[in-house]
Amino acid sequence: MNEWKKFDVITKGDGMWLIDSKGNKLLDGVASMWCNVWGHSKKELVNAMIKQTKKLQHSSLFNLTNDQAELLGEKLVKISPGMNKVFYSDDGSTAMEIAIKMAIQYWQNIGKKNKIKFVTLDNGYHGDTIGAMSIGYVPTFFSKFKNILFPVIKTPTPHKYRMPKKYTYEEYQEYCLEKIEKIFVKNNDLAAFVMESGAQIAGGVIIYPPEFQKKISQLCKKHEVLFILDEVATGFGRLGSFIEYHAQKSIPDIVAYGKMLTGGYLPLAATLTSQKIYDSYLGSYEDMRHFFHGHTFTGNPLACATALTNLELYDKNNLISKNKIKSRQFEKRVGEISNLSIVGDVRHKGMLMAIELVSNKNKKTPISLDKKIHQKIFVEAKKHKIYLRTLGHIMMLVPPLAISEKELEFLLDGTIDIIKKVTKDV
Ligand SMILES: Cc1ncc(COP(=O)(O)O)c(C=O)c1O
Repeated sequence: MNEWKKFDVITKGDGMWLIDSKGNKLLDGVASMWCNVWGHSKKELVNAMIKQTKKLQHSSLFNLTNDQAELLGEKLVKISPGMNKVFYSDDGSTAMEIAIKMAIQYWQNIGKKNKIKFVTLDNGYHGDTIGAMSIGYVPTFFSKFKNILFPVIKTPTPHKYRMPKKYTYEEYQEYCLEKIEKIFVKNNDLAAFVMESGAQIAGGVIIYPPEFQKKISQLCKKHEVLFILDEVATGFGRLGSFIEYHAQKSIPDIVAYGKMLTGGYLPLAATLTSQKIYDSYLGSYEDMRHFFHGHTFTGNPLACATALTNLELYDKNNLISKNKIKSRQFEKRVGEISNLSIVGDVRHKGMLMAIELVSNKNKKTPISLDKKIHQKIFVEAKKHKIYLRTLGHIMMLVPPLAISEKELEFLLDGTIDIIKKVTKDV
């Protein structure tokens, strides 16, 4: 805290650029925490917000509903294969808390009260609330709270760059899947397997190999374990597909969306479930089967109206197919970035790139914390008119999806230059 006393104050957003109180411009290289789709002040989104603000700002979803929440619910079900019902909340963490609670209560609803445990992947991240920290335990972030988190069974993630030497990558994937199946066979008290969809982001940007997610989904079905997917960071096109779990050929029982759902303009998240889960909650009042969960701003009409316009814009602008070209723009620079002396690994998919910085390429030694590389990169990036935030020694490029090719080139050129500049400090 001592080292970050004074922040620049952002007062305006214009397209891909953030503008501070002194008029300095920064390219938003992290999509304002991975949620911005169209850039800032997008006319259609702002107009949708103004229009809805004049009609209804908030009305509760307790015993009532509102038109925007209904329309968005229908739309989300339509675009999410296998999902039938929507439960709204405010952010990714709450969407995941809801997923956990829904799974636990589902088993109680159908009389299998012992099924209360969760299995998750190492390095997974699901948010900062207590339940989310439990299922997505990242030691660097959460070690101070370890004693109060509930126990979870962890299994290894097939991380190509950092895996045990005795395996090939293919063998290691098999090993990871076998481990999961062994746990499923051994424990009859499992409620669900939880994983991020497509890739782990906050835990180090680990992109799953093809079929990995699909095979876990199949194991869950085979062994009567619910499959919960977290698409908070990867849904709506970050990895190149609109619905990531569909691209992964996996079908969840419960899936969480957040971040880019409103184009990154208002807080809104959704937890979607299959009909099977929903039906288990039906009963008469005395049965007390209903889901005791709700937040004040659940289904907020302003956020839902913004999300509806955002999703319409994807279609109108053909964003997902246009981004295939921009993804190749990233791809073309992988070799050049990998050759830099402090770059150990470059991981890229869709509109996401991670650059892992090391002090020794052969030994893959991460740059130690005391070098404060994250801070140096932030400062250097600002000099290059770019807002970048690293995950420790891992740089992340997560621009708004609609970034222009020219601006993406600016981001990539700037990143290479920033790495060269900080190399002397390693
Ligand atoms: C995969 C994943 N799940 C959940 C969350 C938590 O979302 P929020 O910060 O909106 O609570 C995040 C946030 O980065 C995330 O990346």
